[in-house]
Amino acid sequence: MWGLVLDSTIREKELTRKIDPEKVPRHIAIIMDGNGRWAVERGLPRQEGHRQGVETVRDIVRCAEKLGISILTLFAFSTENWQRPAWEVNYLMSLPEKYFQSELPELIRKNVQVRLIGDAARLPRKVRKAVEDGSEATRDNTGMILNFALNYGSRSEILRAVNNLIKEAAAGKVKGQVDEKTFSSYLYTAGLPDPDLLIRTSGEKRISNFLLWQLAYSELWFTNVYWPDFSKLHLMEAVHDYQMRKRRFGKL
Ligand code: FPP
Repeated sequence: MWGLVLDSTIREKELTRKIDPEKVPRHIAIIMDGNGRWAVERGLPRQEGHRQGVETVRDIVRCAEKLGISILTLFAFSTENWQRPAWEVNYLMSLPEKYFQSELPELIRKNVQVRLIGDAARLPRKVRKAVEDGSEATRDNTGMILNFALNYGSRSEILRAVNNLIKEAAAGKVKGQVDEKTFSSYLYTAGLPDPDLLIRTSGEKRISNFLLWQLAYSELWFTNVYWPDFSKLHLMEAVHDYQMRKRRFGKL
């Protein structure tokens, strides 16, 4: 036990030394996967995996803020997740409220600004209220932006943008050809830079309808670790790996 603690303390020191604070990714997006498998492998109900997943959210938000990440976007519930059994959906829908109840004071203190990306209208009232209250209470904060993607699906986000553009073009508010910058401004992530780094846990190597437009040039980092076991050391490893890469954006 103490050996493990010592190992991770040494590793943290080593990573802290290796990470260049001037070159941390501005925007990190995370697909938090593997809660269910984490629980089942321990003979626990799947909800326990999600409950533990919230603990990881807490740690990772703290660590990202400390590392100086400007934007952290977490995929918490997809438009496809409604197809899960009702008991699991209900449990997942209880989490934002619990999270904000315990974390909001610290988020406010740390100058974090909370935002929701996704189709809020279809979320249960208590979930919408929890996130909207969190957003409202942190609206004027100028530190890290923390996006919760809830009832989020990238294809539906893109279609929503297209339909809004059609409406505005018909009303004469958008004229001529639509360029990438204008199109981006119709997405939920309007005004934010695209993710520099996408992390997905649990060994799956898919994008799963997450930020399809925004991830065009993001660096991808995959780990076999299940989300409940993902720690600040893993986040630091991902950031360090990102810093070792040469981003070319199609150039030489
Ligand atoms: C995927 O794991 C995870 C989810 C569908 C939910 C993720 C949600 C959290 C980590 C908590 C969110 C916290 C807040 C504060 C909103 P899975 O269940 O698909 O895992 P599996 O692939 O192993 O079954």
